[in-house]
Amino acid sequence: MIKKIEIEYELLDHSGLLSQEDQLVLEAARKATQTAYAPYSNFLVGAAARLSSNEIVIGSNQESASYPVGICAERTLLNSVGSQFSGEKIQVLAVSYDAIGKPSVDPLSPCGMCRQSLLDFENRYQAPIRIILSGLEGPVQVFNSAAHLLPFGFNGSIFKELRGK
Ligand code: THU
Repeated sequence: MIKKIEIEYELLDHSGLLSQEDQLVLEAARKATQTAYAPYSNFLVGAAARLSSNEIVIGSNQESASYPVGICAERTLLNSVGSQFSGEKIQVLAVSYDAIGKPSVDPLSPCGMCRQSLLDFENRYQAPIRIILSGLEGPVQVFNSAAHLLPFGFNGSIFKELRGK
């Protein structure tokens, strides 16, 4: 039997078509690109999240001279929310990038590790996170849940069953 999965997302021509609140979060992500430390890739990624308290928190990629030690913007942000605002849910999270002098028009597609972390956060707080992806300008993709970005994602339930919990 062949099965198919459909992924739903919204595609907007530009950020002006987002709600005012979501525009603020995307603007914060675009601005957060300038806090990135990316001397090896020259690819500055910014992420921003609006929490249930309405506070906006940002993160950016932080690279390392030992390349694999570096961390993506999304996980910098999630780790900081999980530790500094552990009682807050993330309502919406935006990601953008500055490729330093090169076009930043196509939305960024988050890496697999970050998709897993986003899904972990949804499962941890039992609340979907709206994901907004866009360059410094141009079209905007909106996903209503991180789960849509990672079909068949690992959620640990089988692991808990194996441990008998
Ligand atoms: N990067 C992110 O911060 N987020 C992503 O979703 C994709 C990639 C960073 C990691 C690295 O510092 C640089 O972009 C180039 O891969």
